[in-house]
Amino acid sequence: MLDASVSGVVPSPTLAINERVAGLRASGRDVLHLGLGQSPFPVPEHVVAALQANAHQKDYLPVRGLPDLRAAVADYHRRHEGSRASAEDVLVGPGTKELMFGMTLALDATLLLPNPSWVSYAPQAKLLKRAVRWVETDPAAGWRLTPNALEAALAEGGGHRILVLNSPNNPTGAAYTPAELEALAAVARRHGILVLSDEIYSGVHHTGAHASFARYYPEGSVVSNGLSKWCGAGGWRLGAFVFPRELRPLLDAMAVIASESFSAVAAPIQYAAVSAFRDDPALKPYLQRSRAVLAGVGGALREALVAAGLRVSHPEGGFYLFAELPESRHPSGLALCEALLEDAGVAALPGSAFGRPAAEPSMRLAYVDFDGAAAMRHAPAGVDAAFLAAHCGRVLEAGRRIAAFVRD
Ligand SMILES: Cc1ncc(COP(=O)(O)O)c(C=O)c1O
Repeated sequence: MLDASVSGVVPSPTLAINERVAGLRASGRDVLHLGLGQSPFPVPEHVVAALQANAHQKDYLPVRGLPDLRAAVADYHRRHEGSRASAEDVLVGPGTKELMFGMTLALDATLLLPNPSWVSYAPQAKLLKRAVRWVETDPAAGWRLTPNALEAALAEGGGHRILVLNSPNNPTGAAYTPAELEALAAVARRHGILVLSDEIYSGVHHTGAHASFARYYPEGSVVSNGLSKWCGAGGWRLGAFVFPRELRPLLDAMAVIASESFSAVAAPIQYAAVSAFRDDPALKPYLQRSRAVLAGVGGALREALVAAGLRVSHPEGGFYLFAELPESRHPSGLALCEALLEDAGVAALPGSAFGRPAAEPSMRLAYVDFDGAAAMRHAPAGVDAAFLAAHCGRVLEAGRRIAAFVRD
């Protein structure tokens, strides 16, 4: 007999759309896949070489992670975010998703989620019988969380709360500025809440100007990062949480959960990840090219959609745009995305997968349907309209098809 918390949960919508697109493509349909948030870029060569060199590593590693990797992650956060973390403050897991699950399990707390938020936070809470409180954002301000909205949600009381803040953001592409983070941090500090700062897209902030929430609220922030997005290695399954000293008991509790669930991340992957977090000279041009391509293609797609009359977020980091139709003849966001897939051959995820009202005609578009390896090879020559037409044509075509779909 299934537990009630499990029976009501459906498979992750991102993985479901992926299977649906694969099926349509197998039947001969040309589907433009803007449904799955996977990096289009290859893993940097020096990181692949490190994995090859460590294929023979076969022993179980320490539950909290390979000491060299924990040190490299802490060093990365010190270099990039001005953090004071050391190796002891780091917990390594098989993707940040698994670590989030462990954190939600370890804490008896309500999750505060800005609406919209990434697809898996709320279902994880449901599986673990934890409450979720959605916090409204302002669509006219790019669906960003404001200090006032956070204050209002916290003023309601209701036991321990964890704010999950994700910047750069999935699904909106918004990257919070230092001033915005500082203002939110002041509210978080006043209420003494725990913040899970999901910074998995930090390396693909489009101008490289990512600011960590932990810079403004170090004592209450757990920072989440990993190889999946800026290192193109989602399938390697490696993530890491960095804890402030004040939250060492939480790290210890999550390490117990890790020891009784996944044991440790695959050894070759951990050895290879050391080279990804190190200050390798090859990483800089790799990230510069990734960012230039993403900024170019995201900006072009936004322009096409705005011209078609949609309300669209600004692509500032990561691979996503969140868009809302001015009106729709479809009864729900899901029906809209079904029609978009059937009639226009464009796969997108409905806003409802991210917490938006079911009837709202909104969707997330992941502008990653292009050959990232080829784009990266040609990016040094400049990312202009000719570049985008040559290397990101499928995303531009998706913009044209969505515009025609809305018009018709
Ligand atoms: C905002 C956000 N957080 C976390 C994750 C999970 O990443 P991973 O488990 O691969 O580290 C994703 C992946 O799509 C994401 O978009």
